[in-house]
Amino acid sequence: MHKANHNNPVTNLNIAIDHEKTQLRVVVGYESLSKLTGLSQSLASKFLVLTENNVADLWFGYVNQILKYNQDNTVKILSFPASFSIKDSKSLLDVYGFLHQNEFSKDDTIIALGGGDICDLAGFAAATYLRGINLINIPTTLLSQIDAGIGGKNGYNLMGFKNVIGTIYHPKFIFVDFKFLESLPSREFYSGMAEIIKYSFIEKTISEFTDYRLGPRSFFEILNELSMDNFVINHMSFKNVVLTCLSMKLNVVAKDPLDKDIRRCLNFGHTFGHAIEATYPKVYNHGEAISIGMIYAFKLASMLNLSTLTNLNKAKILLTNFNLPIGVQNLNKNFNDQLIKAFKFDKKRIAENIDFILPLLSIGCVDYKYCVPINTVSELLLSVNF
Ligand SMILES: NC(=O)c1ccc[n+]([C@@H]2O[C@H](COP(=O)([O-])OP(=O)(O)OC[C@H]3O[C@@H](n4cnc5c(N)ncnc54)[C@H](O)[C@@H]3O)[C@@H](O)[C@H]2O)c1
Repeated sequence: MHKANHNNPVTNLNIAIDHEKTQLRVVVGYESLSKLTGLSQSLASKFLVLTENNVADLWFGYVNQILKYNQDNTVKILSFPASFSIKDSKSLLDVYGFLHQNEFSKDDTIIALGGGDICDLAGFAAATYLRGINLINIPTTLLSQIDAGIGGKNGYNLMGFKNVIGTIYHPKFIFVDFKFLESLPSREFYSGMAEIIKYSFIEKTISEFTDYRLGPRSFFEILNELSMDNFVINHMSFKNVVLTCLSMKLNVVAKDPLDKDIRRCLNFGHTFGHAIEATYPKVYNHGEAISIGMIYAFKLASMLNLSTLTNLNKAKILLTNFNLPIGVQNLNKNFNDQLIKAFKFDKKRIAENIDFILPLLSIGCVDYKYCVPINTVSELLLSVNF
């Protein structure tokens, strides 16, 4: 994988969440984690680094060296085998057991070191152990650096269904350090690109309802241009792209921390995406499932005359240019039934209806509460070759 660009200085993004009387502090840039030594002085000196074996082998040394800069710090590590089941109740009980046996108190800190799976598990454990202990997020995938590691949502899966159990609990600090991305396999890089592209499909709606301001060119236009320019982590625009996503996410979270309104638009593509993940476990990673899910949302929107086939094609081109899938391969006969079953467990379901986030005529605008009866979706799925 490519080397990250070393020349950019570290950027601090801070935003207040008035409702929770808290500040989100994100430190962004190559080796931004070095700032931890100064910032962690406000915390007690005992840390549990929660991670998984892939990441521990590659990166625990780097993190430990920074934590051990203060010789009084006690650093423990709990590492899981990398797999879908990280986000399950067994892992969670392992974390609680470890914290208890090692006498962690409320002032101590869990550090999430890993992708979205680890951030989700660590967030839930931190929120619930002793009714809340300190949390620091060190997301190590592109997807978790621009999305999963930010915003306080956490959760774990129940019986194969995604994020059925969770809370909203914010880390004290988040370090978005591009150094970690140097070891990221390219498939995982593109998975992160799916969530980056998602921001381009919701940018205008975010600017309408939050303090996020549109630039002179739309994010969709910028990403299209970058897709022609070998956009990888050493590209000179890489940090700006990440900062644009973070700015959208932070402004949305600050406006709607509890996920009751505008924050829902961040789930664009996720209703179908989660259903695809549940139906095809291990076939698609999160970003790939969301990529297909966004195409389904465009298809549904064009069938409901909210958007057009031209927009659908534009979305397909951008996602394909970043090596992302735009449809399910080897669609099995039961796919529609399985999809409908998965919808029934979706958090956005209300009785027999489901609130979809659907694209509108202008790319970047979405209706984030478009209510469709599940039966209608079922008929649409049957009537058209999705
Ligand atoms: N809480 C939220 O707001 C939110 C938002 C989006 C997604 N999510 C969740 O995030 C999860 C997906 O996150 P993800 O895409 O980061 O997946 P992941 O955590 O499963 O990581 C993907 C793979 O990358 C490997 N990896 C991680 N960092 C690496 C590095 N630096 N170098 C090499 N390999 C590395 C991991 O071992 C794993 O195999 C899903 O469970 C999803 O539900 C949560």
